[in-house]
Amino acid sequence: MQSRHLTSILDLSPEDLERVLDVALSIKRDGTGPALSGQVLALLFEKPSLRTRVSFEVAMSRLGGRSLYIGKEEVQIGSREPVRDVARVLSRMVNGVAIRTFDQAPLDEFASWSSVPVINALSDHEHPCQVLADLLTLRERFGTLRGLRLAYLGEGNNVARSLAYAAVLAGVEFVCASPAGYALTEVDIGQASELPGGGSVLQTDDPVAAVRGAAALYTDVWASMGEEHLLAERIEVFRDYQLNGELLAAAPADALVMHDLPAHRGEEITDEAIESPRSIVFDQAENRLHAQQALLMLLMGRSPQ
Ligand code: CP
Ligand code: NVA
Repeated sequence: MQSRHLTSILDLSPEDLERVLDVALSIKRDGTGPALSGQVLALLFEKPSLRTRVSFEVAMSRLGGRSLYIGKEEVQIGSREPVRDVARVLSRMVNGVAIRTFDQAPLDEFASWSSVPVINALSDHEHPCQVLADLLTLRERFGTLRGLRLAYLGEGNNVARSLAYAAVLAGVEFVCASPAGYALTEVDIGQASELPGGGSVLQTDDPVAAVRGAAALYTDVWASMGEEHLLAERIEVFRDYQLNGELLAAAPADALVMHDLPAHRGEEITDEAIESPRSIVFDQAENRLHAQQALLMLLMGRSPQ
């Protein structure tokens, strides 16, 4: 791996990404030995979680190590004591740290002071671990990622940004359809477009055009954690971007339905879409476990490759 951390998908090369997916597929098929025996992963979480917390805890257990969950009341990172002090203390006691937080800057600062691997378990800016599982799910379905068209409907948020970066690294054609004012920024598109790997990123405000020719349609909540108070004003703005029967009808008949979960039925996705036979949302959720086992082995294993 080119970086010892995963604070962003930008830490990965195309080869790193492919390696994580290869190892994840092999772990899913054959299981794994105690590759991280005796090691401890701290989970420093300032927001709630089901999938991310449980998948990291089960992954460490399957790898022969342990996890240590530290909720937001405990460390109060950056307010009880400086980020750099927390990073140096934890580096003396654990073998890796997964952080779920708000701003990206403290996470990057933590990584710069940490002598053990730091993993972004979701920030307002990115959700790289989710996207590893998403690409793993698509690769399982299609055999290869190269040339697939992935349409994302909704806010150009943390999940969309990580998808945009990872899509380019993996050779995927990524189309993000968002209402005006909620798109990925020019900076995001520029950064993604400069990455190696052969994929592409397109931002549009036309959801119907976005889903045409797509292998999969992906959506996420209209108001992320910490932004719930903005939901009421967004419901009208995002109405045409709902993943529903109408948009599914505009997509190829075999296009798959994706969501990182938790899903808000009746908002960004209808019950009909998420429960349809084309939905792979629970494969995505399961693959969090396999993708993160691979990531942990590659970042924390004694001889990282
Ligand atoms: N998709 C995801 O990250 O879920 P949690 O917020 O439950 O961890
Ligand atoms: N964009 C969502 C993802 C949840 C997994 C959020 O940040 O709340």
